[in-house]
Amino acid sequence: MNRVPTMIKTTNMENYTRGFSSNIGAILAAAGGAVGLGNIWRFPYMLGQNGGGAFLLVYVFFVILIGVPLMMTEFIIGRRAQSNVVGAYRKLSHGNKGWITLGIFGIVAAFLIYAFYSVVAGWTLNYIVLSCRGHLSGKEPEAITQLFQSFTQDSFWPLLYQGLFLILTGSVIVMGVQKGIEKVSKILMPILFILLILMSVRSLTLGAGAKEGLAFLFNPDFSKLTGSSILAALGQSFFSLSIGMGAMVTYGSYIRKEDKLFNTSLWIAGCDSLVAILAGIVIFPAVFAFGMNPASGPELVYIVLPNVFNSMPAGTLFAIIFFLLLGIAALTSTISLLEILVAFGVEEFHWKRGVASFFSTLLVFLIGAFCNLSFGPLKDATLFGKTIFDLFDLITASYLMPIGALLMTIFLGWFFPKVEVKDELSNSGTLKVKAFELYYFILRFVSPIALLIIIISGIIG
Ligand code: TRP
Repeated sequence: MNRVPTMIKTTNMENYTRGFSSNIGAILAAAGGAVGLGNIWRFPYMLGQNGGGAFLLVYVFFVILIGVPLMMTEFIIGRRAQSNVVGAYRKLSHGNKGWITLGIFGIVAAFLIYAFYSVVAGWTLNYIVLSCRGHLSGKEPEAITQLFQSFTQDSFWPLLYQGLFLILTGSVIVMGVQKGIEKVSKILMPILFILLILMSVRSLTLGAGAKEGLAFLFNPDFSKLTGSSILAALGQSFFSLSIGMGAMVTYGSYIRKEDKLFNTSLWIAGCDSLVAILAGIVIFPAVFAFGMNPASGPELVYIVLPNVFNSMPAGTLFAIIFFLLLGIAALTSTISLLEILVAFGVEEFHWKRGVASFFSTLLVFLIGAFCNLSFGPLKDATLFGKTIFDLFDLITASYLMPIGALLMTIFLGWFFPKVEVKDELSNSGTLKVKAFELYYFILRFVSPIALLIIIISGIIG
């Protein structure tokens, strides 16, 4: 122990100041991690491709039935262990190698997600610049499509913007949990909500198409649901809530001991679903009002929306607001992704925060560059017909997260003592958790069985 006295000192200091300073700080930071491109970019196009309203219902169902309990599960693990995801499994399993591997699996998943996520986050920077300079306005639809394609297929600019986004994220993380993550989330999240509400009002006042768009979003047509769209809804709910691979274990370890984990989870899931639905309210009425295709896939916000902005009064202003909003949402999420890696480096290897941030960012950039170039020079490097970018997305959202979630519920529900779970959820018995037995039942039976069915049906196709 005495070999590394200075390191032990810093670790102690970090433990002393460990975590968020308030409950609202924790909620905004974790909601910031959850609310991201997943809500504003991925959710609308997934919904567009998977049948509209029915997808929304299945999605909300999964958020309530599996999402909230699973987020609580991650918070319980993190707060109990007071540790990053690998350290958490090590501490709580008393050094069992199998469970530590599950923690490492979480680190790998965070790397993969950050690698492809930062590509699209970088695009938002370019679109903020383009819209501020008025380069999106007054263009014909073909020119807008052309603009998107030539930008994403380029081998310089997208990399530059991805790199910039990674640096921006890194500079928040270096400032620490309270002065970086918490402070930035407290500023950006309210701005995000205000911008989103502004945009929804704009979209809802677009006349006839608005009704059609709302009907697409809210009127379920269950004949459009298939096995794969149900799997997609589950993957989307996990991706959007940032659960399944231990991201919330890290944030959970920063939640104060006196905060209520159930209420905190509900707030975060509520904010997250609200933002996804608001994003739908922004996008679909506008898409229908201007006769665009809601099922156009990942290009939905980058090609379809600029056309929509061009057709509306003060479109340039709304384009700027929209892409700013998208960038803010992406930033609070990349912050949460990098923090998983940095907390791991700092606590497991005793690296300084700055060093851990630098090396994680560099490694993510090296891997992320392949995802980035898979839109251009590497677009023919495919496996099962999917580009590197699509593979990273598919592997993480459809496989790693459900499998990680399954193993996590087995760990907490079947291997970890029930009294300790109850102790953590009830803040050492000071809170009455009325629905504890219900939570525990979902943890032990409902979630694992649902996850198993979904994983198997996903594999069988
Ligand atoms: N939830 C974020 C979104 O919707 C993405 C994200 C951030 C994430 N951190 C994560 C997903 C950790 C899974 C795990 O955009």
